[in-house]
Amino acid sequence: MQSGIVALIATGGTIAGTAERSDDHVGYRAAQLGAEALVAAVPPLAGRAIEVETLVQLDSCHMDHATWLRLRERVAAQLARPEVAGVVVTHGTDTLEETAYFLHRTLAAPKPVVLTAAMRAATALSADGPQNLLDAVTLAAADGACGVLVAFGGQVFAGSELRKVHGWRLQAFSAGDAGVLGTLADGTLARWREWPAQELHPAAAALPAAERWPQVEIVTSHAGASGVVIDALMAAGVRGIVVAGTGNGSVHEAIDQAARRAERAGVVVRRASRCQLGGVVGQRPGALPSAGALTAPQARIELMLDLIAAAAGRD
Ligand code: SIN
Repeated sequence: MQSGIVALIATGGTIAGTAERSDDHVGYRAAQLGAEALVAAVPPLAGRAIEVETLVQLDSCHMDHATWLRLRERVAAQLARPEVAGVVVTHGTDTLEETAYFLHRTLAAPKPVVLTAAMRAATALSADGPQNLLDAVTLAAADGACGVLVAFGGQVFAGSELRKVHGWRLQAFSAGDAGVLGTLADGTLARWREWPAQELHPAAAALPAAERWPQVEIVTSHAGASGVVIDALMAAGVRGIVVAGTGNGSVHEAIDQAARRAERAGVVVRRASRCQLGGVVGQRPGALPSAGALTAPQARIELMLDLIAAAAGRD
């Protein structure tokens, strides 16, 4: 374990949620507790060098780009302090994979930036948040650790590989075929793979204010699909569309035709899969451009960054 301060930045989520009854796993309210209360609920953290701040108290289904920019700025400021060993971010599980991917692509992280969350509210009979937070602090202080990481359910994920694969079970996350980076058990980190390599997007050099980010939306392909959503998005002036295709990125012909109309009008289209695992393998001749291994939400972030970089002449 590395000596140094762990900076904790709280953003809300179920980990900070409360309910009237301890057996209520659905009717709780997310994002009720601030950073101090989260740390106070973990007795083994008493006496540890932790500095806390509550950045926002959000149910992460409402996460927005302006908050991402504020979070990135606060994490970067903490990482720049020589006395800080690493940063922990508490977050909701619902968009955890998106925030993790955004930070992975836009934030230089020579020290660990560990996101964590919980599936059960802080008031639940067997809340998972306190152990996840303890594990996240352990990881943030681990010698040699670096990159955007996620500590959840005793497992360590690369932030870029995370996806939420279950709506309510405690083990809600997967890294797909890549597998977990390691495990955290009884305060001990076992690592199976290298720390994630830094892969900064060129747009990270100067991200504009959130209101100037290009609008990129996701459209899902499905049986009985039509082109009306894409046509409406074009009329609304979107700059990019990610089609979440079926299976290995196949797309209903009505959506495909509408996507071609969008491309001809200057909208950039990428093709991902609506499946949680596997991404899109290969590029069939004539098919819409593939987003590769990225999930549709990751592909949306990547396309926004590509458009930002292109507008700044940095692609
Ligand atoms: C949220 O994402 O903020 C609520 C759901 C959760 O954290 O599990």
